[in-house]
Amino acid sequence: MVHSAEFKKIKVHYSDTGKGRVIVLLHGFLGSHKIWNEYIKKLSKKFRVIAIDLPGHGETPSIGYYHSMEMLAQSVKAVLDNIGVRRYVIVGHSMGGYTALAFAELYPENISGICLIHSTAYADSEEKKKERERVIKLVKKQHEQFVAEMINSLFSPESFSKIPEEVEKVKRIAASISKQSIISSLEGMKERKSRELILKFAEYPVLFIVGKKDTIIHYETIYPQMGLCKYPSVVMMENYGHMGFYESPKDTIIELELFATRCFRKQFE
Ligand code: MLT
Repeated sequence: MVHSAEFKKIKVHYSDTGKGRVIVLLHGFLGSHKIWNEYIKKLSKKFRVIAIDLPGHGETPSIGYYHSMEMLAQSVKAVLDNIGVRRYVIVGHSMGGYTALAFAELYPENISGICLIHSTAYADSEEKKKERERVIKLVKKQHEQFVAEMINSLFSPESFSKIPEEVEKVKRIAASISKQSIISSLEGMKERKSRELILKFAEYPVLFIVGKKDTIIHYETIYPQMGLCKYPSVVMMENYGHMGFYESPKDTIIELELFATRCFRKQFE
């Protein structure tokens, strides 16, 4: 049951499930709203859950050759305005978290809380930017191989035998993304600015869900970011990396439920 909203001459697709206060789910690079299926099923028993295919992902086409985090945030706003909702908790995995922070900069009055899952407010380091350049060149030559290797590297080794269907599902979602969309996202992530100031001035709670074995977002970089926030909290996933939220959804969903309830009841002041 996927709906769509107009944005810059394309249709941004999303699912809309449940009733009540709104939780917005934003997938990461190479994902789609389907990555959240388990979350949607459980969270929609208590909340209205909007899960969006960001431009260039899932059923939403890409827009040009550069997907800035600001543009992704504007596409999210187009969906939420189309639905007619005004306040929400935004949950973003990795690139979805970068988008959530860009959203918070543009539309702070709409936010009741932000949850960053395996994500960060920091910009890319110079070293990371160089690595992105290298990856962009590789993708131009052989994007299928890049996608397969990237997805394999995200999961913990045990997941390949424990949850093989789930790993395959993520691979299928990633394989459907076009070369142009991959490059546009990499360019956008490379140029994204630091959003530490957004954390510093956030008048709402910020929850960090962190994978101790995450090789993309190192867990130690999260503590100083928590120190910036007025209302921070953290869930440390000891045995997981960048896909921990997907490999171990049960506990993460409970944490999100508690977090959203606290945000909406304003039980953090
Ligand atoms: C993601 O999972 O969204 C990306 O890998 C994040 C990144 O490359 O910075």
